[in-house]
Amino acid sequence: MESPFKADIVKGKVALITGGGSGIGFEISTQFGKHGASVAIMGRRKQVLDSAVCALQSLGIIAVGFEGDVRKQEDARRVVESTFKHFGHIDILVNAAAGNFLVSAEDLSPNGFRTVMDIDSVGTFTMCHEALKYLKKGGHGRNSSGGGVILNISATLHYTAAWYQIHVSAAKAAVDSITRNLALEWGTDYDIRVNGIAPGPIGDTPGISKLAPEEINSKARDYMPLYKLGDKWDIAMAALYLFSDAGKYVNGTTLIVDGGHWLSRARH
Ligand code: HXC
Repeated sequence: MESPFKADIVKGKVALITGGGSGIGFEISTQFGKHGASVAIMGRRKQVLDSAVCALQSLGIIAVGFEGDVRKQEDARRVVESTFKHFGHIDILVNAAAGNFLVSAEDLSPNGFRTVMDIDSVGTFTMCHEALKYLKKGGHGRNSSGGGVILNISATLHYTAAWYQIHVSAAKAAVDSITRNLALEWGTDYDIRVNGIAPGPIGDTPGISKLAPEEINSKARDYMPLYKLGDKWDIAMAALYLFSDAGKYVNGTTLIVDGGHWLSRARH
């Protein structure tokens, strides 16, 4: 779909996107690139990263991939530093890396619970922590008047309760809390805006193929207000808004982009 935004709204900016090699993270990387940003993507799988970088470059986007696991602080530090060294500044960190699987609370081991908390919640905090010095006003490489932007990809699962996703619900609740607290502290101290996006069910993503049972496709029309799954594009457009100056007064919010889906979930 064609973008409603001008092609240069994030021109000259540099984005670091965890989980940027696939799914929603890749679409955000693509749209940021198409709107003028240079992108660094971080992921655990070299092959996925390499093909994502090739795909971005074939669109004329300046892109680089860095292997790393957000659960490892040394990886987080190395990737953030490498991004800075490569591009000279970092304007936005997008935390899109996530882990998920369906399992009942009874069958989920504490280590399984911890694994998802480690990727989604601790990983998000670790990346923010390591990126701070580059994002803050007057930080390394930044000489403009404002600080950078952080965008955390969340979910709506924890607004009610979600079957077989106690680990992800807990992890994304923590992510939303991280978003608000960093918005308060770093917004005040460093002019950094910290926001989130809570996608609903988005078609053609690892999340939907892993989690959503056929059922969500076939029954979607029965209970979803907009009668369809969202597109990765919908999330990327929201991300562009929050990244660009159009969102300059938006701080500490998690924007729900789900067609109203969560409103009806409590009934099912
Ligand atoms: C039960 C499971 C499990 C499963 C793993 N575990 N998969 N338990 N059912 N299907 C348990 C393991 O038994 C182990 O606990 C612990 O979790 C760690 O498993 P590992 O395989 O060692 O972990 P690892 O190799 O690090 O893989 C991480 C992962 C994996 C999260 C388990 O699925 C992954 O890498 N996912 C990344 C990609 C992904 O999931 N993307 C989708 C994101 S979608 P024990 O006790 O046995 O040691 C998304 C959308 C959210 O986030 C919102 C939806 C609406």
